[in-house]
Amino acid sequence: MKAAKIGLFFGSDEGNTESISHRIARRLGEDIVDIHDIGEVTQLEFMDYDKFILGIPTWDFGQIQSDWEDFWEDLENIDFSGKQYCIKKGIEIYYNSRGHRFSSSEIRSRLKN
Ligand SMILES: Cc1cc2nc3c(=O)[nH]c(=O)nc-3n(C[C@H](O)[C@H](O)[C@H](O)COP(=O)(O)O)c2cc1C
Repeated sequence: MKAAKIGLFFGSDEGNTESISHRIARRLGEDIVDIHDIGEVTQLEFMDYDKFILGIPTWDFGQIQSDWEDFWEDLENIDFSGKQYCIKKGIEIYYNSRGHRFSSSEIRSRLKN
């Protein structure tokens, strides 16, 4: 477990989310943020972290980006309980810092809707 590190997982068709992901890492510190393209990971990479930033662009009336869509069934099997996360989906941001928590089923529900 890379306890002190943040796992930033992004999907990107046109490069905006990838570019923003690198800007976030530079701002927070590249020594504490690991960047992963969701198109190139397995569930195992998620197990390395207890803090996440998920960059999920939306397309065509709110559909999640294609690599996230492909990863969706794997995401269902990841236990996010007790984890800290920030999700940027389209213009919405979901987070569980400051005591505001979503369960993993709520996250998935919010990502789908
Ligand atoms: C054809 C098209 C459809 C889009 N549909 C949505 C959408 O339904 N909801 C939304 O929030 N953004 C939508 N966007 C904006 C994209 O999410 C935005 O351009 C994003 O930065 C793309 O991320 P990427 O460059 O990392 O692939 C759309 C953009 C395009 C070009």
